[in-house]
Amino acid sequence: MTPHLTASAPADTHTAWWQDAVIYQVYPRSFADADGDGMGDLEGVRSRLPYLRDLGVDAVWLSPFYASPQADAGYDVADYRAIDPMFGTLHDADALIRDAHALGLRIIVDLVPNHSSDQHEWFKRALKEGPGSALRARYHFRPGRGENGELPPNDWESIFGGPAWTRTSGPDGEWYLHLFAPEQPDFNWEHPAVADEFRSILRFWLDMGVDGFRVDVAHGLVKAAGLPDIGGADQLKLLGNDVMPFFDQDGVHEIYRSWRRILAEYPGERIAVAEAWTPSADRTALYVRPDELHQAFNFQYLGAPWDAEALREVIDDSLAAMLPVGAPATWVLSNHDVTRHATRFANPSGLGTQLRTPGDRALGLRRARAATLLMLALPGSAYIYQGEELGLPDVTDLPDEVRQDPSFFRAEGQDGFRDGCRVPIPWTVDGSSYGFGSGGSWLPQPADWGKLSVEAQEGDSSSTLELYRSALAVRRTHPGLGRGTAVQWLEAPEGVLAFARDGFVCTVNLTADAVRMPVRGDVLLASGEVVRDGSEFELPGDTTVWWTM
Ligand code: GLC
Repeated sequence: MTPHLTASAPADTHTAWWQDAVIYQVYPRSFADADGDGMGDLEGVRSRLPYLRDLGVDAVWLSPFYASPQADAGYDVADYRAIDPMFGTLHDADALIRDAHALGLRIIVDLVPNHSSDQHEWFKRALKEGPGSALRARYHFRPGRGENGELPPNDWESIFGGPAWTRTSGPDGEWYLHLFAPEQPDFNWEHPAVADEFRSILRFWLDMGVDGFRVDVAHGLVKAAGLPDIGGADQLKLLGNDVMPFFDQDGVHEIYRSWRRILAEYPGERIAVAEAWTPSADRTALYVRPDELHQAFNFQYLGAPWDAEALREVIDDSLAAMLPVGAPATWVLSNHDVTRHATRFANPSGLGTQLRTPGDRALGLRRARAATLLMLALPGSAYIYQGEELGLPDVTDLPDEVRQDPSFFRAEGQDGFRDGCRVPIPWTVDGSSYGFGSGGSWLPQPADWGKLSVEAQEGDSSSTLELYRSALAVRRTHPGLGRGTAVQWLEAPEGVLAFARDGFVCTVNLTADAVRMPVRGDVLLASGEVVRDGSEFELPGDTTVWWTM
């Protein structure tokens, strides 16, 4: 019998949306304020969704909006299933998720499983019930050391400065562990009730329709057995990434396996992304094995200086680390915890990610624009922090009395000044708080904020906003741009990076001086002016050009 000939089935060309997604971080306090109380809210975010659709991002990640006393800007959650009244209601969250979906945007919410607020029902009861109680077992309570228990149970320090332990005021005088502020007691993830509760919280938000979670302090949940001393290890840097008995313990992975199973039960490719500060890209890759989380932030990339060799190394390491686990590499330049990259790159490299010096702003912006085109040309998923598309610098001169970051108050001897990247963003040239809202702004905005507003930049082809819009539009029309797992490095003068990917070339000059290079095809987009001269072109300093071949 002649076999019935059929065309061979098309190869599976489906790429999950998150493999090359561009995800925009909204910091709800500082994005848009609909009710005029000076604090951003969910209705504000909802009103600006069309802006995000037009910008061309795939998904929006919202920093926490849950019921919280705001000891750490909402990363201290009192009720994981309720919205803080300052941000709105569950009804607003529902409307936001629905509207986003109608516009083709996905919604990722922040999940804070390492610690709760000290105002969480469990913790309040734990305090009341005293030593040995069932509720205390859900946190890390311990008797103190010293004759009368007056010394902390071990030598761990809080990431925000000071001891990681606070003594309860009750007659028992037990201490409880908080890797962050005292208002953020760490959960004991060995306790089954904690694991059950978070599985239920995941389902609550998945049922609400969210497309995924950003997992806060994903590397911190499990602590080494016996909570051993660190023995005089160096003072931790903010969100430090040293090997510590409270970070990156192997036990965390079982938790993420159980979460992956839940995510997989829901339709629509729901995801989770790890905020995991680990010592290396290889350790980060463990969080995104096929049965764990989907993505992890690439903090090695975020911390890289504006230097060709250093960046090439980080890019190669990141791609190589993800290959064996099959997860997409991710790229990020800014978030709500670090100095905005326009200001980092305005300062001499090597100063770290917590700066209070404005540096050379024009240089910083030039490099920031070039850095964005580099980031968006790399294979994988990219994260944008609200306001970077306006080229916003950090606000480095906030007076001490307006600062709210708990690390500012606790981090003696450290720079823990995260308020500078959290100043509400400008929408309009004039008006109350530059269009952020009608009731001022919870952190003061600089006097030149209007010039950087969306209104000022819209339609101006030389603006940073239009550069982002064009770059994201090109990414959409050249789907190969974000896909794949490798870049092909091309020969380039010292201090210049050049790589090819699928009909596309990216050239980045990380030096201050212009270089001449052979023309690579047609210019698709450039972060600065490019002068073509026959078969060569001049690539100005601190500039990126995208070419199509
Ligand atoms: C994460 C958040 C940061 C917060 C900390 C404690 O690192 O990004 O803003 O302060 O966790 O929750």
